[in-house]
Parts: sequence; structure tokens; C-alpha cells
Amino acid sequence: MSSNTIISAGDFGRAAYDQAIKAINQSRRNPLVVMPTGATPKSMQQIFQRLGCPRPFQYLNLDQYCGIDFDDPRSYPLEIQKSLLDPAGLPLNMNLVFNAKADPVKECARIEREIKKAGGIDVAILGIGSNGHIGFNEPGTPFNSRAHVTELAPETRNANAAYCDHYGGVPDHAMTLGLETIMEARRVILLTNKADITRKALREEITEDVPASILQRHPNLTVVATPAVARALRFDA
Ligand code: PGA
Repeated sequence: MSSNTIISAGDFGRAAYDQAIKAINQSRRNPLVVMPTGATPKSMQQIFQRLGCPRPFQYLNLDQYCGIDFDDPRSYPLEIQKSLLDPAGLPLNMNLVFNAKADPVKECARIEREIKKAGGIDVAILGIGSNGHIGFNEPGTPFNSRAHVTELAPETRNANAAYCDHYGGVPDHAMTLGLETIMEARRVILLTNKADITRKALREEITEDVPASILQRHPNLTVVATPAVARALRFDA
């Protein structure tokens, strides 16, 4: 990880926001930016709500459950629209959102075409799952994967049950940007409050069993970590 940076943050949301804004400011005009959903980025989203975004960007959807409506409460792009884009005064381009009702295989191919048309991903801001997933790239996903349909791992469905009422409310399939798609982003910012899996991903073997371990090969990775995670990373550094 010699070319990468670890930001240890007492004020996690503020540090994540600052890194996101810095990356957006250093990118071309109207950059293509992947924003994460889930619990980890909540405090960053709150800062976006308060401070907005000094430069506009285009939001690219990282992942979405199959079969749901865009305005279903479980919809990830809806969460980003409500918690980040609307408060920051930024438009949502539906072309850059997985249409969960479309044929999923064709939809994944369409998203890849849109990314190409938009000139590639400038910044991918990601969380990490407790099983090492990034997006919905579950353990065992090939490193050369492009956007694809995936069956969610039981750990992922368990972790997300709280957001979907109960385990059975978590759809069993989703669409996600692939690992190769993510690795082509010009910059990656990983937000993490999970010490064990982050250390495994960034300090141990690069293996498809831990999808986030591929990030060790990214030439421009910034990790925004809670102090406990930063300590865990430095311990083995
Ligand atoms: P979390 O999820 O932020 O809700 O822990 C992270 C992820 O699964 O990517």
C-alpha cells in the first residue's frame, strides 16, 4: 500500500466528506462519482446535507437489488437521491442508475456502456462488507468481473435485514458494478469502520475470497478509517 493513504478520523463523517470533495475538486469537470450506501457513509451524507458540494458531479449507482421499483424504500439510488443529491442541489441522471425492473443481464451491459460513454469513473467511494465485499461483489467474484447480476451471500442478507424489515425482505439477487469496473476508477476512497476485515483485505493475501483485497493493487486508493481501524492497519504495516 505504499502509494496509498490512510486517513485516521475521529470525526469520520467530516474526514470522508473532505476526501470526497478533494477528489471531486481534483477531477475533470462534472466527474463521474460512485457513492456508497449503508450505515458507514451516513455521517458523510449528513455533512453533504449541511455543506453541499462546491462542484457538481454525476452520481453513478454502485449496486441495486433486482426486481424493486426505483422508489422502493430499499432502493439504493433513492437513498442517495434523498440523503445527498437533493440536499446538495445535484440532479440524478437515471441513465446512470441500474433499472431494477429491466432484464438484469442487459441492464448490466447498458450500465457499462454508459460508463464508457461518460469517459470512465473518476472517483469510486466505497464501503466494505463484513465478508469483504465491495459493491455486491461477494467472496468468490472473479477479479475480472464487469457489471453483473449476483446472488447475495447469507452474511450480506443478514447484515441488510435491518434496512429491509427482516431477512426475507432482502432480495436475493442484485446488480453491481464489477471488480474490474471499480478498479478502472481513477481514484478509490474506501470508508471503513470494520477493523478485522479491512486488515485482512489490505494487509493480507490478495484473493478472490476477499473481494476488497483487489484494492491493494489500485494505484490511487485513500482509506478513511476510524481510529480503531487505522490502528489495526498500522499494526501489520
Ligand atoms: P455498511 O455496509 O456500511 O452498512 O456496514 C457496507 C457494505 O456492505 O458495503
